[in-house]
Amino acid sequence: MVSYDIQEMEHLNKDFRKRCTQEVEKRREQLKIPDGPLEFVYGYGSSAAGIMLIGEAPGKDEVRMGRPFVGKAGAILSEILENTGFEREDLYITNVVKYRLSREGKRPGTVANRPATTFEITNSMLWLIGEILLVRPQLILTLGNVPLKAMRHIAQYFQATQEEGDLTELQKSYYEEYLNMSEIGMCHGRQLTCTFKNFTATHIPLYHPASLIYNRSLRKAYDADMKEVQRCVVLLSK
Ligand code: URA
Repeated sequence: MVSYDIQEMEHLNKDFRKRCTQEVEKRREQLKIPDGPLEFVYGYGSSAAGIMLIGEAPGKDEVRMGRPFVGKAGAILSEILENTGFEREDLYITNVVKYRLSREGKRPGTVANRPATTFEITNSMLWLIGEILLVRPQLILTLGNVPLKAMRHIAQYFQATQEEGDLTELQKSYYEEYLNMSEIGMCHGRQLTCTFKNFTATHIPLYHPASLIYNRSLRKAYDADMKEVQRCVVLLSK
């Protein structure tokens, strides 16, 4: 497995970021992005551990720091990773949507985050596929419903763009499995297999770390899911 450290990854990412920024700016109207500054935050990290984490979209803190998951949700994520024995700098962390999704806040003059629409998720899908193929992770951890939805769209995309005869029975069953995964509550902690044309990775859907802020009772389930992640990492390293 080829592995890139943070500096190498940053170098490889340069061209990707430039092309993605240009494309989004060019299609701004078509993507229904409201007027105002377009605040991009791209993936960051290394492929050393062969693990890629995918969140939803950057928020205010991420835009300020130019890195994904550095705000409140990021602090929870760091704690979870530390407890599991992962070094954050060995992982690659990114988001489905690479720019802040904002709306007017409750108080006049303030800006708040908003969830990604299905339209925004599908429109970000090709960039996410490009990024996955660049990192080539053995294990993908999605955080919350938005990246889970993105992975379902990716499975549908690969299923639809391959000739019927090209799909093995095993690939067909992987795609079928994905199509049933509509909500994080029904599949968190499960090991799925995502298969791209010539590349296969294990995917474990996890709750979004921010959900632990609003729903403390999820902590037990999260800990159990991270145990599953640890088991999977041991198996993959054999
Ligand atoms: N920060 C991110 O970068 N992504 C999220 O999904 C949430 C917070």
